[in-house]
Amino acid sequence: MRIAVFGLGYVGLSTGIVFATKGNQVIGVDIDEERVKKINQGILPFYEPKLNDYLLNVLKRGNFYATSNYEDAVRNTEIGYICVPTPTDNEGNVNLIYLNQAIRRILNLIVGGNKYYTIVIKSTMPPSTMSIIRKIIEGEYGLKIGDDVGLAHVPEFLRTGTTLSDLEAPSRVVIGVEDEKTRELLYKFYKSLYGDKNVPIILTNFVNAEFIKYTSNAFLSTKISFINEIARLAEKLEGADVKVIAKGIGLDPRIGEKFLGAGLGFGGSCLPKDLRGFVKTFENYGEKSYVLAAAYKVNEEQPLRGVKMLKELVGELKGKKIAILGASFKPNTDDIREAVSIEIINELIREGANVFVYDPKALDNLKKVFGEKINYCGNLEEVLRGAHGAIVVTEWEEIRRLKPEKFKELMTQPNLVDGRRIYDPEEFMEKGIRFRAIGLGPR
Ligand code: UDX
Repeated sequence: MRIAVFGLGYVGLSTGIVFATKGNQVIGVDIDEERVKKINQGILPFYEPKLNDYLLNVLKRGNFYATSNYEDAVRNTEIGYICVPTPTDNEGNVNLIYLNQAIRRILNLIVGGNKYYTIVIKSTMPPSTMSIIRKIIEGEYGLKIGDDVGLAHVPEFLRTGTTLSDLEAPSRVVIGVEDEKTRELLYKFYKSLYGDKNVPIILTNFVNAEFIKYTSNAFLSTKISFINEIARLAEKLEGADVKVIAKGIGLDPRIGEKFLGAGLGFGGSCLPKDLRGFVKTFENYGEKSYVLAAAYKVNEEQPLRGVKMLKELVGELKGKKIAILGASFKPNTDDIREAVSIEIINELIREGANVFVYDPKALDNLKKVFGEKINYCGNLEEVLRGAHGAIVVTEWEEIRRLKPEKFKELMTQPNLVDGRRIYDPEEFMEKGIRFRAIGLGPR
């Protein structure tokens, strides 16, 4: 297949590279010329395990290149995947301007070009956005869906840090489609990609596909906030431990063990923004979402609970060296969008602490936010040396591997908050660490 991918962010670029790896001819399109140049030189604009090698490979084989030229891309392909961002403001209003622009750019080329073209939207949108897009295509451009243009919504469920395995064997493919020709085309395409792996394909209408994506992210967010709420009570009761509680409930197959990891809360480019967008969508339709709004609220409060624990251990934070272990919104990425580290660091600065941060990949991005206000460390020894308190924010493997002896040896006072529940409390306390953790009751 000859495929264009519009928007070379996380989802678009990864999707394009994987389509090309599977033998398709792919053109990646982005309005940012600097980004396009870098990608063509084989430089991935973000960190994602193994993906850079895949990019180099498809560039070398000649079945992927990037451009800023929409016309070139539409002329030389049959399907265009739109993967532009749909950011959400603090009130939950979703900004559809990039989506609108990308669709119109493509439609302008189709309308004059006498060419049948299939548009697949991957960007996450509030339910009912596809019906607006349908109106633009049919009403404004006078094109007929199924005759002049194909239209589908295929939401993306990939996760940062495990993008390649998620794209190579997704848990399911959801295709929102309302015309026969596109339904057949995409069903065949996805069968050819994943048929041998038995990946379920759900064919449905536009609105259900939109709902599935928002509901999926909302459910994952709710699961995390649910266990974080339980963690709050566990912290008050002697001997309680949310990790044991999560294991005990997770073994019930109706509940499931995944996404019950209590901690400082969820961040990233999807879960918080989509939850806000979903709550707002309820409001827009005159409904109130109790569960989702509560999940959001719990998550808003969660990062500062870690700082409170730190204060209980260290006392007054003013002038004290505080070590932040990990800053990306999750391990194996340099992404700090809506990372809980940002809020924690801001609070520590407000408290007058001397903030020192170590993260294996995210420090360059963090510098863009905090500049000279905090100190950046090249390794774990440096961040911990002389610290009066430390807090685990992101569970990178090398942070998981730290032993209590290391904290004792390097820190001025071994005050440690485990914000991701990666250490064995008994082991750490026995070795003399002053230890607090999310969801851990008094010992
Ligand atoms: C998420 C969805 O999982 C993915 O399907 C969707 O396409 C995009 O959004 P991603 O943002 O990459 O993916 O990360 P995810 O692994 O879902 O983690 C999100 C946040 O939740 C992280 O900050 C992580 O630390 C936190 N989290 C996750 C928990 O706090 N506890 C858990 O048990 C799991």
